Formats: sequence, C-alpha cells, structure tokens
Amino acid sequence: MSILSGKNILLGITGGIAAYKTASLVRLFVKSGANVKVVMTPASKEFVTPLTLSTLSKNPVYSTFTNEDEDTEVWNNHVDLGLWADLLIVAPATANTLAKMANGVCDNLLMATYLSAKCPVYFAPAMDLDMYKHATTKQSFEKLNTFGNIMIPATSGELASGLVGEGRMAEPEEIFSFIEADVLGKLPLKGKKVLITAGPTYEAIDPVRFIGNHSSGKMGFEIARAAANLGAEVILISGPTAQKVSHSLIQQIPVVSAEDMFNAVHTYFNSCDIAILSAAVADYRPKEVAHQKIKKKSSTLTLELEKTKDILASLGVIKKQQYLVGFALETNDELENAKGKLKRKNLNLIVLNSLNDKGAGFKGDTNKVTFIDDQDNITAFELKTKSEVAIDLLNKIISHI
Ligand code: CTP
Repeated sequence: MSILSGKNILLGITGGIAAYKTASLVRLFVKSGANVKVVMTPASKEFVTPLTLSTLSKNPVYSTFTNEDEDTEVWNNHVDLGLWADLLIVAPATANTLAKMANGVCDNLLMATYLSAKCPVYFAPAMDLDMYKHATTKQSFEKLNTFGNIMIPATSGELASGLVGEGRMAEPEEIFSFIEADVLGKLPLKGKKVLITAGPTYEAIDPVRFIGNHSSGKMGFEIARAAANLGAEVILISGPTAQKVSHSLIQQIPVVSAEDMFNAVHTYFNSCDIAILSAAVADYRPKEVAHQKIKKKSSTLTLELEKTKDILASLGVIKKQQYLVGFALETNDELENAKGKLKRKNLNLIVLNSLNDKGAGFKGDTNKVTFIDDQDNITAFELKTKSEVAIDLLNKIISHI
C-alpha cells in the first residue's frame, strides 16, 4: 500500500503541452489509493480534456468559479477545495502560473484554491529552456521556496519547441515517486522500527486441540497500520487471526504459540525503537502435549498446565533505548492493577482497558482505554474505534520519544 493511499490529492493543471501527461499522473495517484480532484486553468483545456481527467479521477473537474455546463449555476468553492486537499500539486506549472503563485495574482479558480490551501504544495515546472533560465522564473522559484512550496525540478531533454535543454516537466512516474518519498520523509515515525504483537496464541493439547482465547487481533493490526502510515517500519508478530493487512512498511510474522511469539519477539527486539505488545498471550499451556489425539475414555479429563514465558516482562528486563508499551485487560481494581503491571514489567506506558466498559476489549471494532505512563500521567479516553485508539496511542508515544 502506498503512503498516498487515502490522501486527498488536488491536481492543478495549467496551460502547457506537458498537460497531456497529467492523465497518466492522475492514474498513478488513483492506483495508489488516493482520492483525486482536478482543477484546470482555462488554457490547460487546450491540451487535455476535462472529460479525460474526470473519467480517470472519478470526480468532476473544476475550472471556473461557477459550473458553466449546468442549468442551475453551481458555485465551485475554492475554499472548500483548498481545505479538502491533503496535498496540492501544480503540474505542469507554467512560467505564467508560477509568477502568479509567487505574487498572489488571483485571476482563476486554481489561483484562488492555491491561496486558500493550507496543505503542502508541490509544483512541477514545464517550459522552454530560455524561459526556465530567465531571471524572473528563477525569482518565482526562490519566492515559492520561501513560502514552503516544494519544487519537483524539470529535467533536460527535447522540448516542444524542438530545442534541447532544461525545462521538460518531470515524468509522471518521477512526480509520483518524488511526492511519495517527500511525504514519507516528513512522517514522524520515519526511520523508526516498531515491533507489535497481536492476536491470541494457541497452546496445543494434542494434534487437533488447543487452548486459546477470544482475541481478534484487531487492535494490534490497527496499531500496525497507523504506525506504518506514520512512516514506521513495522514488524507485526501475530498469533492466529483472520485479520489481514497489506502495506509496504509492514512485515507480518505469523506465530501460533506463546513460545513461538517469545522467540520471534526476541529476534527483532534489539533493533527496534518502540515495542507495543497488544497480543493476548496465553498465560498457561499444557505441560505435556499428547502426540496422538486424546480419546474420550473417561468422564473427566485433567490437564496439567504450566506458565508460559511472560514476553513483555522479559523485554522490560533487557530493554535499552526501546520505548516499551504493554496492555492490561482488567475486570476489577483496574487502575491499581495496571499501575502494578507498568512497574513490575518495567514499561514506559500501559494501555488499560476494562471489561466493565461496554464496547471495550477483545472482539469488537471499538475500545475504551486509559493510558498510564511511567511518570504517572493518566489519560482516560471516550469509547472510540480501534483505529482511533491506535492513532491516539502512537501520538502519545511520539510525544514521548
Ligand atoms: N503478555 C506477554 N506475555 C505473556 C502474557 C502477557 O507479553 N505470557 C503481555 C500482553 O501482550 C500484554 C500484557 O502482557 O501487553 C498483559 O498482561 P496480562 O496477561 O494482563 O498481565 P499479567 O501480568 O500476566 O497479569 P494477570 O494475567 O494476572 O492479570
């Protein structure tokens, strides 16, 4: 999954021959899972049709302040468009549009949207080589740079005029990769390794039976997704679960038993920066595992259980730079029990959820949590979706590291 998946991308197209390449650019963004809207300057429609772009973007294309084609006039609100955008990309950016952007000239819908947008702005210049070299164009680049706008430099090659030189708009694939890398590079967990455990563990009784629990793994998978979306490299060690995730930054390691999970966690822990152990690990396992299926001979069956290794506690003993987070699912004396676990297992943070709270815990899509950190700060949250809880948790961790 691309880091641009789910992002709202507003593409501003201006009147240069390179506008024909924006059809491919829209396709790349759509394929990455982004939501794409297009604003065209009137001149750009000479080079590529709004129909092509609306078909590819699956959205109406905006060009004027009111919709010309409709019977009833519709106001294309540049403020709404600007606020909708997570990223604004002006490609191709002609010398004319760059000069307008640099000087706040607001004579079309794209310029009004540019001035209203609060998101990062990228621009991909495209013009003939002498225009590209001209002092006024250079001035526009410099001014836009001081505004924080990001240039995707033009490349050298054959230009529409037949001349050869600098001024060709970067290819759509290059623009796409540039933006993807730039967004990724600015994410708060970029360069961090996050280890996450999720799901239940199954402890074998015999070849066909096991002791397990009701954990769905949803909470851990949501944390993995949120961490990857914040730029982290994620190792997701998961017990048997129906959850699925597909993200270029998530490496999933399936395990079955507490012992498997212990070994996998210790393989990766040394090199990680943050470890979040949300798995519902079995506390006990059968002392002996029968090699053959146990037959129902008598009216009762007694299994002797032994303790599994406490993975979280073992990390608390060896941790160095790692920020260590555990979960506590409690039914009584919740705060006291959770604080006890935080200290006993040498954690930086514990996420408490109580089975007494409706909507909290194992199976559902929601959770109601309280964070307790090693400075004794306690933050209680409302009932939220597990994906919102995951974001709250990572924001809390980011504020600490
Ligand atoms: N945990 C673990 N390894 C185990 C058991 C638990 O890593 N063998 C982790 C869980 O992933 C979770 C936290 O420890 O982060 C919760 O532990 P829990 O089982 O609630 O606490 P215990 O200290 O085992 O106490 P109790 O079961 O008595 O409540």
